[in-house]
Amino acid sequence: MARAIAFQSTYFRLVLNITVETINVSKSQATWSADGSHIPDINPHTKAKHQILETYLENLICTLYGKGRHGQTTFTFVDGFCGGGMYYDQDNKTEWQGSPLRIIEAIRAGYKKSKRQYDLNVKFIFIDNKREHLACLKNYSMPKAGLGELVNGQPHEFKGEVGKLVEECEFICGEFENLVNEVIFKIDIRKGHSFFFLDPFGWTDVSMQSIRKINNLKRSEILYTYMINYIKRFVCDRDGKDKDTFNRILDAEEYYQFDNFNTFNRIGGQCYLRNESMRLFRDKGKAKYVFTFSMIPRGDVSVLYYLMHLSQKLTALEVIKESFWQENNLDYQYYFELYGHGFRTADFYEENQKELKFDITKNSEYFCLEKLDSHLGNIIRNNQDGIIFHELCHQTMERNPASKEHYTSYINLLRNEKEIEIWRNGEIVKGRKVDLYKSDIIKLTKYKQLLIF
Ligand SMILES: C[S@@+](CC[C@H](N)C(=O)[O-])C[C@H]1O[C@@H](n2cnc3c(N)ncnc32)[C@H](O)[C@@H]1O
Repeated sequence: MARAIAFQSTYFRLVLNITVETINVSKSQATWSADGSHIPDINPHTKAKHQILETYLENLICTLYGKGRHGQTTFTFVDGFCGGGMYYDQDNKTEWQGSPLRIIEAIRAGYKKSKRQYDLNVKFIFIDNKREHLACLKNYSMPKAGLGELVNGQPHEFKGEVGKLVEECEFICGEFENLVNEVIFKIDIRKGHSFFFLDPFGWTDVSMQSIRKINNLKRSEILYTYMINYIKRFVCDRDGKDKDTFNRILDAEEYYQFDNFNTFNRIGGQCYLRNESMRLFRDKGKAKYVFTFSMIPRGDVSVLYYLMHLSQKLTALEVIKESFWQENNLDYQYYFELYGHGFRTADFYEENQKELKFDITKNSEYFCLEKLDSHLGNIIRNNQDGIIFHELCHQTMERNPASKEHYTSYINLLRNEKEIEIWRNGEIVKGRKVDLYKSDIIKLTKYKQLLIF
């Protein structure tokens, strides 16, 4: 009970900050001392965020490095607001690792799982504008997690069963916005795949211009904490100073043209905010695919922040959906044509829950297939000459909760019912279950075409 009150008061403080503070919301934010004698308490939302981050990165490595004949071998991971690396979990009375440690460990886990013979080359760039936070990461958190040897900035070999993983950490103290060009330049020279975890305290620390620059890299992705709760407060404040600053930093002049503040806490208002955010990041941030996780605190129906995943490749979107579709516990979103997965964090369900458990229902699988039928089915039926599988995924992936596995099952189902054929290299594919290739063509069977006309 005491814990519940403690949490509520933290949460209340947070709400108060939103109202009292305008742009700089950093006063009650997490701080680390250089020697690790002071580390912040972890909250449920940050735990959920960490879980998403590490699960996704492990799966990403398995997919890009571990699959295919010769996968991607060079990666750069940038934690642009890395913090001190360790938290204290009051519920379990233990320490809880922060994003920099989790990123390194997720890559190791993905690498081990992949069991490939060729080497994997990884660079981690950790940025923070507070010298003490970086000092805590290097002197306290990394050694405590058994990663002490990586703090010297040199390449180190981590042995797997077969190949080797070369890891190198760079630590940079400074404002992310001032460092983004330098980091992009380094990645451009290294080549390979890059992933940016951008987890600032508020919305002023990352500009749309920087998002655009990162998305202009050939193979880049961003996972970004977008504090929507702060934003909705002044969306209606047409002439306010904050609004001007917001528009300038995020290029958002033509977005969020919404008048009725009172409806924000209803589903319609939530849908509007989410879809406008996605439109903004697609158009102005030049992200080809946008996917969101909604973070909703206990006792609330509105979103505190979105964890936005921005990517240029369909594969990244497929991996993110595959990794989390089961944990999506807000299937109402898809009823309202909202994209992305929703998370109610652990505290929503139960106090003192030891680990995050989500409300997974059988319902979501059924719902997912039903949604797929209306999305995919209609497109297939409206393309008399057939549609390439990759194009089908491109058009629909963001709009339903289904994973690639669901797509495959659904298309095989249509095939078994003789509604469609799958064409590859000019011939109909035979066999009981078809593993689809990107270039496969899905065509209505002649009989079905006749029925339609
Ligand atoms: C939310 S905390 C990061 C938590 C960390 N990502 C984790 O999950 O463990 C944000 C961090 O960003 C740093 N920071 C704030 N503004 C910054 C800026 N403009 N550039 C770089 N770092 C900044 C803060 O000092 C703080 O350590």
